[in-house]
Amino acid sequence: MKRLENKIAFITGGAGGIGTACAERFIAEGAKVVVADLFGDAARKLADRLGPDAFGIGVDIGDEGSVKEGIEAAIKHFGRIDILFNNAALTNPASMTLDTDVVNIPMEVWNNTLHVNVTGSMLCCRHAIPHMAANGGGTILNTASGAGLAADVARVAYGVSKAGVIALTKYVATHHGHQGIRANAICPGPVVTPLSLELAGDMMTLIKRQMPLGKLGVPKDIAALATFLVADESEYINGEIITIDGGTMAHHAHVPDMQDYLKSQAKG
Ligand SMILES: NC(=O)c1ccc[n+]([C@@H]2O[C@H](COP(=O)([O-])OP(=O)(O)OC[C@H]3O[C@@H](n4cnc5c(N)ncnc54)[C@H](O)[C@@H]3O)[C@@H](O)[C@H]2O)c1
Repeated sequence: MKRLENKIAFITGGAGGIGTACAERFIAEGAKVVVADLFGDAARKLADRLGPDAFGIGVDIGDEGSVKEGIEAAIKHFGRIDILFNNAALTNPASMTLDTDVVNIPMEVWNNTLHVNVTGSMLCCRHAIPHMAANGGGTILNTASGAGLAADVARVAYGVSKAGVIALTKYVATHHGHQGIRANAICPGPVVTPLSLELAGDMMTLIKRQMPLGKLGVPKDIAALATFLVADESEYINGEIITIDGGTMAHHAHVPDMQDYLKSQAKG
C-alpha cells in the first residue's frame, strides 16, 4: 500500500517550487491533491499536467472568504480534506527585496508579510479544522523556515512571520489533538527553486559553506519529509518543529572559519 493511499491533501502555494514537488510526490504516494494557489491559472495548469488526482483552484490565503470558498470547493470535488499543507507564503521578489530591517522596512511590507504568512496559515486551519474534526481527524503541516529560528542578514518580517507559524503550529497541535488533528511544522534551510535563485543567486553558494553536507536542498528533499509528516506512519508526532537544512543549524556560527583555520595550521 502506498503511504498516502485514499488521502485528500489541500496544498496552499501548490503551484510554487516546493508546492509542485510535494503535489507530485503526494500523488505518487496515492493521494488526491488540491493545488490551491494565488495564481489560479498556474494551479489549474499544474493540475491538468498531474491528471485526475489533482484539482487546481485559485485561493488567496490572506482573504478569509477566498479560503472558505477554496476549502468548500475542495470538499465538493474530492469529498473531504485529510491533509492541510500550509506551504504558501508571500515570496513575491518585489516585496521580499523591501523586507530589510525594523528601521527601514515599509510598514505595508511588514503588514502584508505577517498577514499572508501567519494570518493566511491560521485562516486555512480555521476553515479546514471543523471539516477534519467532523471526519474523525486529519493532519496539518505548516511550512516555517530556518529564518524563523535564527536571524538572517535581512527579511525581518519574513523571519518574524515564520516564528509566528511555529507558534501557530504548537497552539493548533495543543488545541485540536483531542479531535484527532495533529499539526507539525518544517523549517527548511535554503532550497534551490527558480525563486530562491532569483532572490539569493550567488549568496546560495556562500550559504553552502555552512552546510556540513556541502549541498543545497532541493524541493524533492522537502517533499520526502512532508510525505512522512502527513502520512499515518508519523501519527504520534504532534506539535513538532522539524528543521531540514543539511545540518546548517546544527553547529556554531564560527565552525566553517575555524575549520579553515585548523586546515591552514595543519599545512603550516
Ligand atoms: N525556497 C526556499 O529556500 C525556502 C526556504 C525556507 C522556507 N521556504 C518556504 O517554503 C514555502 C514554499 O516556498 P517556495 O520556495 O516553493 O516558493 P514559491 O514562491 O515558489 O512558492 C510559493 C507559492 O505560494 C503562492 N502564494 C503566495 N501568496 C499566496 C497567497 N496569498 N495565497 C495563496 N498562495 C500564495 C505563490 O503564488 C507561489 O506559487 C514557503 O512557505 C517558503 O517561505 C522556502
